[in-house]
Amino acid sequence: MNISKLKKNIVLKNGTILDPYNNTEKKGDVHIENGKIKSVGKISAPKTSEIIDCKDLIITHGFFDIHAHFREPGREDKEDLNSGSLAALAGGFTRVCTMPNTDPPIDSPESIRYIIDRSEECPIHIHPIGCITKSQEGKEITEMGAMLAEGALAFSDDGLPINDSGVMYNALEYSYMFDVPIINHAEDDCLKRHGLMHEGKVSTHLGLSASPDITESNMVFRDLELAMLTGARLHVPHVSSAKSINHIKLMKKKNDKITVEVTPHHLFFSDEDLYTFDTNLKVAPPIRTKEDRKAIIDAIKNGIIDCIATDHAPHTIEEKEGTFDIAPFGMIGLESCFGAVGKVLINDNKMDQMSLVKLLTVNPRKIMGLDQDLFKEGIEAEIVIYDPKLEWKFSLENIFSKSQNSPFLGREMKGKVKSTIVKGYITSID
Ligand code: DOR
Repeated sequence: MNISKLKKNIVLKNGTILDPYNNTEKKGDVHIENGKIKSVGKISAPKTSEIIDCKDLIITHGFFDIHAHFREPGREDKEDLNSGSLAALAGGFTRVCTMPNTDPPIDSPESIRYIIDRSEECPIHIHPIGCITKSQEGKEITEMGAMLAEGALAFSDDGLPINDSGVMYNALEYSYMFDVPIINHAEDDCLKRHGLMHEGKVSTHLGLSASPDITESNMVFRDLELAMLTGARLHVPHVSSAKSINHIKLMKKKNDKITVEVTPHHLFFSDEDLYTFDTNLKVAPPIRTKEDRKAIIDAIKNGIIDCIATDHAPHTIEEKEGTFDIAPFGMIGLESCFGAVGKVLINDNKMDQMSLVKLLTVNPRKIMGLDQDLFKEGIEAEIVIYDPKLEWKFSLENIFSKSQNSPFLGREMKGKVKSTIVKGYITSID
């Protein structure tokens, strides 16, 4: 991977320009001047411009991941904001929201300010999500207003659920004043107990303690009801079960403020992949059955899912080499995201490029209230160039995170990010 400063004038030549904001697809060039969009389509750039040949490639908006764990402060041995940014660039992400379950958690205006200041030094745009409750204890609501003023975009105790319905109710009521999303990690602790995976035939074969799908769907149902009651914006993260999808489908008919994300790993794997005992497949919420996986894919096709988010969760080799019961939950996901969803959605399920790109660009930006018209003149160039046809295998050389806990290693991918442009730099990915 090579990162270099953009020349004064640069032309992305002869690509297919896919504009997910204006819903257009056309062949042409993109002229970037001083790191900003100058013109798109037919251009008249100076002769001295640097030319980047984009023949057979797609030029589109930079991807935005609204759900990543960068572990700074506290566990910089797993990831920090810089290494997380490199992983993001390799995956075509120009912008990332970081989850607040760091050590200490991001639960105050000062800690939000810390992430904002540190992100200035990073090669991508980073937006902190603040905790819903102080120290993620699920009891006392944080100072949301002051945290928003420092740059938080949304609130979540991700990694941990808000178990107390009264606290969730208060959090939604409070956030309503600011019209920002509340993101609850929906896994009811009382039902999860010490579940290591999804409860079903496979967990019985493996003899691992497990939790049923209603661990998620019960809490999702509660949250949907509370969102309706309060009028607040609920964003349901990493939805993993057919039952949750059913609840969401029904409630979305009545409430247009609900948004939903899915991860590449819940789209790609089923619990049968856990027969390998690969601890990298130990995630929260767990990988579920083939039927759940199909329900998620169908929900994407039917427009029930708003966006794809990675839940990039780095952990050390030492931790992941432990047995299934002691390994931590989580896998990295930024570098493998595009190839993995390309394989599942485009290759295997015949989705079109535009629909996929929307799930990674305009839709997540809309959820977080950011500008979505990224090809307009004068705006900072935030662009990804990708090869839609390339088939490749995900391997260690593709990882730029400090951690390597990926079950995608050795897996076939379809579609590969070639370059990522953001903050006046262009990153070329091999
Ligand atoms: O698998 C997960 N790992 N799910 C989460 O929600 C948290 C994450 C982590 O922080 O490791």
